[in-house]
Amino acid sequence: MEKLKIIGGKPLIGKIRASGAKNAALPILAASLLTEDPLIIQNVPHLKDVTTTIELLGRMGGQILIDSNLNLEINNSAVTDYCAPYELVRTMRASILVLGPLLARFGMADVSLPGGCAIGLRPVNLHIAAMEALGAEITIENGFLKARCPKGYLTGNSFTFDVVSVTGTENLMMAATLAKGTTVIKNAACEPEVTDLADCLNKMGAQISGAGTATIEIQGVDRLHGATHSTIPDRIETGTYLAAGIITSGKVLVRNTRPDFLDAVLLKFNEMGALVETGTDWISVDMQNKRPKAVDIMTGPHPEFPTDMQAQFAAINAIATGRSIITENIFENRFMHVLEMQRMGAHMEIDKNTVTCLGQEKLSGAPVMATDLRASASLVIAALAAHGETIVDRIYHIDRGYERIEEKLQQLGANIQRI
Ligand code: EPZ
Repeated sequence: MEKLKIIGGKPLIGKIRASGAKNAALPILAASLLTEDPLIIQNVPHLKDVTTTIELLGRMGGQILIDSNLNLEINNSAVTDYCAPYELVRTMRASILVLGPLLARFGMADVSLPGGCAIGLRPVNLHIAAMEALGAEITIENGFLKARCPKGYLTGNSFTFDVVSVTGTENLMMAATLAKGTTVIKNAACEPEVTDLADCLNKMGAQISGAGTATIEIQGVDRLHGATHSTIPDRIETGTYLAAGIITSGKVLVRNTRPDFLDAVLLKFNEMGALVETGTDWISVDMQNKRPKAVDIMTGPHPEFPTDMQAQFAAINAIATGRSIITENIFENRFMHVLEMQRMGAHMEIDKNTVTCLGQEKLSGAPVMATDLRASASLVIAALAAHGETIVDRIYHIDRGYERIEEKLQQLGANIQRI
């Protein structure tokens, strides 16, 4: 089992480049099922979740070409299998994103139930309700969602999400592109990745308006054609490396990124005392060798503070000056990193969906274990600020969401090795 060995205590200084957004690439890969023409996707991050999705499409009969700079060409004209098997779905819950496209194009889909994960139950009831609103019939048999369109096609309808769901919105939007008639999605997710998927679908001939707002309208069309689309930069990867600069009182610039995707996060970096500067495609933070000030965080749907940055801010608050309260409003169990940080000397108390942090002068290195994607990144960040050596175990979680994390951190001067 690979591990990361980190010797902390040094300010990170330097520049790195953000990769393509994982959570934009995954739905766009699934959207390739909506057409028999080739779909070309550029700026795809080289991550485990992307290769898992490519394997899933390959199993269905899709042909995938990957060129030297990792641009993908996917041709699903020969897809003959409409099943997403358990052994792939359980390693990546985002596999649920093939449900909408398979139903829209083939009128059937057998998708394994993903099962829970470290951060919570992760139900798919909203995905099911959304597909049923378009006329699909879904039964659950032997751990599989068996979806069928009795009429052989989906019919446009109005659907309101009672809880904002990113992949739920994406699944419904994709299914609606080929439904007969108009679909209106209310209380839709406004994440930039939803907008990026809509942009790609519109290039493929879909007629979607309102993406990025809480109400999205989709006029169904008969078919979609191929297109070329470059994914947006990864805002969470960007925020994670900026957080590494702040926790070590250093100076980090991330380029090829989008500052406008991170307003709520940059506001908090400012509150912590960082000098935050931005350009059209870059963001820099400079702590000017000061210790960050503790800040209160409340996560919520975009454009509120992103839940995927909560663990990283817990790490900074662990060594910041003062007391802070973190409230996690999206997932019911996203504090696994807190238990590991306590072993590094953090003073944190969990009470239901809040964590109270009392900033400490320093953390000390310790052997810690990663549990989910963002929690593991927060342990790496905490280790960069800790005195002494930290070994982070089970780093396959990290490789799911961060491209070559140790190489990018080494570019910033970190003492980190993969062992
Ligand atoms: C997406 O997950 C992201 N994944 C997550 O990123 C991210 O944390 C999450 O959105 C919230 O922003 C991808 O985009 C691939 P949700 P998703 O449906 O769509 C409840 C990462 O680190 N819910 O927006 O699965 C759910 O339990 C990952 O990259 C239902 O109740 O999240 C949660 O409390 C982790 N029923 C809330 O909605 C449903 O059918 C928001 O979940 C679906 C969701």
